[in-house]
Amino acid sequence: MPTSTGSPTIRAAGTATAATAPPAVRVRGLTRRYGETTVLDGLDLDVEHGTVHALLGPNGAGKTTTVRIVSTLLDPHGGTAHVAGYDVVRDAARARRRLGLVGQHAAVDEILGGRDNLVMFGRLSHLGTRDARRRADELLDRFDLADAADRPVGTYSGGMRRRLDLAAGLVLDPEVLLLDEPTTGLDPGGRREVWQAVRELVAGGTAVLLTTQYLEEVDQLASQVSVLAQGRLVARGTPDELKASIGQDRLDVVVRAETDLPAARAALDAVGTDVETDVATRRVTATVVDRVAALTHVVRTLDDARVPVDDVALRRPTLDEAFLHLTGVPADAPAGTSARSASDSPAAATAEEASR
Ligand SMILES: Nc1ncnc2c1ncn2[C@@H]1O[C@H](COP(=O)(O)OP(=O)(O)OP(=O)(O)O)[C@@H](O)[C@H]1O
Ligand SMILES: [Mg+2]
Repeated sequence: MPTSTGSPTIRAAGTATAATAPPAVRVRGLTRRYGETTVLDGLDLDVEHGTVHALLGPNGAGKTTTVRIVSTLLDPHGGTAHVAGYDVVRDAARARRRLGLVGQHAAVDEILGGRDNLVMFGRLSHLGTRDARRRADELLDRFDLADAADRPVGTYSGGMRRRLDLAAGLVLDPEVLLLDEPTTGLDPGGRREVWQAVRELVAGGTAVLLTTQYLEEVDQLASQVSVLAQGRLVARGTPDELKASIGQDRLDVVVRAETDLPAARAALDAVGTDVETDVATRRVTATVVDRVAALTHVVRTLDDARVPVDDVALRRPTLDEAFLHLTGVPADAPAGTSARSASDSPAAATAEEASR
């Protein structure tokens, strides 16, 4: 459990003054039900121009539901969402004109080539044929797909398809881009390519609402992150604030011989807390605050005592630990697994206090 001092710093919602332009996306008190089940329960969220706001959460948290409402594809049952100041229900056409959407599941046609797909998207967005072709070629160049432009998309790799999806979402050069898990299923190289493309867009002023299950993606791209579990906000802050709320670094030491475990334990006891010994893997771990000092002390102490060590590692909490900590659900748990309720979370409690 996080302590209250470890919770993310929470900024009160709605800090923009009347004189400033509306944020790219503003969501207030958003609710949505499916049958008897409430899948979004009073969500507040702002995405500022030229930034990425990440919506992080396990399966079934309500990420896609949020994206679908903001993209005008699904009506909310309560609350409001605005895109560039336009209400997505009452002013849906104007809101839509400012939006690009890259859905969780690829929307491109497998039989057509990349170029024809993009031209088709342009035509569907009411571009004339010539403009649609010109835009398609620009985007193919930008996403490094020109060489494959005329091959059926069915022959593309996962990374190429995701880049084509991104390109399709950008046909109209939108002010606001909604990306629903843009890198799920990609290998590390494909993921980095998508990240680079997103960074370039944001540098050009595009606002991005990004859903993801990857903490690393949040780290790479987002300046703000909201963590959802079962339709409710459980934490919000910058990626660093989020990490601080998740917990401190762990120092792991694996000794060669089981008989050396007590010596390793003593070394870690001197610099850390929550020291745990796992005899089966000959591993001792501890939570540490000053990571470099702790590592130096442990390596020196064991070296002086001539204790053979197989591995020493400092590690941040893993994604699984992060999810478990913030949402009460492991990252790979099946949808619908019970999450800790938001009111139990100190971070969410702080959020509520801050916005009062
Ligand atoms: N059309 C629908 N009918 C009934 N329930 C739905 C429908 N769409 C979504 N849900 C439910 O709403 C909840 C939130 O779904 P949503 O797709 O928003 O989650 P998500 O955070 O995007 O999850 P994932 O990480 O799996 O994509 C889930 O419990 C899901 O089963
Ligand atoms: Mg989803």
